[in-house]
Amino acid sequence: MSDAVAACWAKLESHGRKTLIELFGTDDQAGERVRMLSNRIEWGDGDMRGGMLCDWSKTHLDRELVADFEALADAAGFSAKRAALFAGEKINTTEGRAAEHTAQRGVGKESSVEEAAALHRRMQMLVEAVHEGALGQVNHLIHIGIGGSALGPALAVDALSRDLALVDVHVVSNIDGVALEAAFKACDPATTIVAVASKTFTTIETMTNAASALKWLAENGVSDPVGRVVALTANPEAAVAWGVDETRVLPFPETVGGRYSLWSSIGFPVAIAVGWDEFAQMLMGAAAVDRHFRDTDGAENLPLRAAFADQYYTRLRGCQTRAVFAYDERLGLFPDYLQQLEMESNGKRVTADGVAVSGPTAPITWGGVGTDAQHAVFQLLHQGTHLIPVDFIASIAPGDDLDPAHHRILLTNCFAQGAALMVGDPGDSPARNFPGDRPSATILCDDLDAATLGALIAFHEHRTFANAAMMGINPFDQFGVELGKQMAKRIEAGGNTFDASTDALLAAAGLSLV
Ligand code: F6P
Repeated sequence: MSDAVAACWAKLESHGRKTLIELFGTDDQAGERVRMLSNRIEWGDGDMRGGMLCDWSKTHLDRELVADFEALADAAGFSAKRAALFAGEKINTTEGRAAEHTAQRGVGKESSVEEAAALHRRMQMLVEAVHEGALGQVNHLIHIGIGGSALGPALAVDALSRDLALVDVHVVSNIDGVALEAAFKACDPATTIVAVASKTFTTIETMTNAASALKWLAENGVSDPVGRVVALTANPEAAVAWGVDETRVLPFPETVGGRYSLWSSIGFPVAIAVGWDEFAQMLMGAAAVDRHFRDTDGAENLPLRAAFADQYYTRLRGCQTRAVFAYDERLGLFPDYLQQLEMESNGKRVTADGVAVSGPTAPITWGGVGTDAQHAVFQLLHQGTHLIPVDFIASIAPGDDLDPAHHRILLTNCFAQGAALMVGDPGDSPARNFPGDRPSATILCDDLDAATLGALIAFHEHRTFANAAMMGINPFDQFGVELGKQMAKRIEAGGNTFDASTDALLAAAGLSLV
C-alpha cells in the first residue's frame, strides 16, 4: 500500500461513528442527505426511456466520509485505472490481457468496439436464422456451460423470458448428471438444439455434459447430433476440432472474461429466448451505465459511491458478508450471479503487484428474494450479532397482471425492511428489542425490462471494479479455482495417493487409488 493510500485509510479510521438516526438528524438534514445519496441513472429515450434510483441514504456514508473516500480513490489511482479499462489496456496483468467487456456494449477502444459489433452481427444472423427455421423446428435450447458461461445466461433468460419465450431454454451447468437428465426430460430431442458455451472449450464439466447431450440426441433419433450444436467460445479452433461446423461457432475475444461474458456470444441463449432486439436493449442499458461510470467523477459516480460503502463496511466496520435481496421473483438468480462476479473477482489476498493486501477484500455475497427471505433469514439481519449491509432491488412497475395488491405488498415490504433495519425498536423486552442502525441500500428500477437488467449488471461490474481499484487488486484473474481442478485431475487419473483423510473418502466411495 502506498503512503498516500495508507494516510487516507488512517484518516478514514479516525472518523467518529454516528448512528443512521443521528446522520438523518433534523428534517432539513434528512432531506439533504437523501438528495446527496439517492440519485438516478437513466437511459434510452421516448418509449424506451428507463432508469433506476440508487439510494445509498440508509448507509453510514456522510459528506466527510465521502470526501475521504474520494481522496482514497484518487490516491489509489482510480481514474487512471478506469481510463486504462476503457482504453483496452492490459490491466489484467497476471494474465497479460485487457478486460474488454464494455466494448461488447459499444463503449471502449474503437477497434475492439468494431470487432464486437462484427461478432454481434454474425451472432444476430445465426439467432434470426434459428428463429426462421434454418435448423428446422426449434422449440428447445439446452445451453451447456458453467460459471461465467452459465450464470449470466441463466439469470437473463429467467428474468426476461417469463412472459414470452420464443424458444424454451434450459441452462445446464453441473457435472451432476441429474441436472442434464432434468433438461432431457423437459425437451423433445427432435426440436432441440444445444449451445456449448465455454471460453476455453476445455472445461471438464461442460465438455462432458456436451458429449452426453450429443449421445442423447443420437440415441433419440437425431441423425446429425453435432449439426444441432452451436459453440460459444473464445477458442473457436477447439470447437471446430470438437466437430462443430465453423458456421455455427460464435467466437468472442480473449479479452472478455468468463464472468463478464454475458454481452458476447455467451448471450446467445438470451437472444434465442427473447429475440435479438431485446438482447440489444440489454446491451444498451449496460452501455448507459458504462458511460456514466466512465464520465462521472467522485461520488456522483454511482458504482464508485456504492464501492465507498462496500469499503467502509468491509474494512472499517469488519463486515464479512453483504446480502442482496431482490424484491422481484424475476431476479431470483441475481444473488448467484453476483456471487461469482464479486467473489471470483475480488476474493484475493494479494494486490496486483503480488504483495499481501493490507485488509479484508471481497465480503461474502449472499442473498435471496423478498418477501420469501423475510420469513427465513431476516431474523438474523434484524437481531443477530453480525452487522450485514443489505442491498434491496425492486421495480416500480409490476411484473405480473394480477390484483395490484400483490405488487403493492411486495414493494411496501421491501421499503419496510430497510426502514426497520435502520430505526429498530426498543421493544418491551430484550427478546423484542431491535437495535436498529443496520445499513441498507435500495436500487429501485422504473421497470425490469431488458435494458434495466443490462444496467443493473453493468452497475455491479463497475462497482466490483471500483472496489478492486481501491484495494489495489486485479479483479480479472481467478487462479484460486485452479488447485482444486488439478487435484480432481490427479484423482481422476488414478494411481495417486493424497492425504489420509482424502484417501479414506476415495476408498469409501469405491474410487480406485491405483
Ligand atoms: O473455474 C472458474 C472458471 O474459469 C470461471 O472463471 C469461468 O467462468 C468458468 O470456469 C467456465 O470456464 P469456461 O467458460 O472456459 O468453460
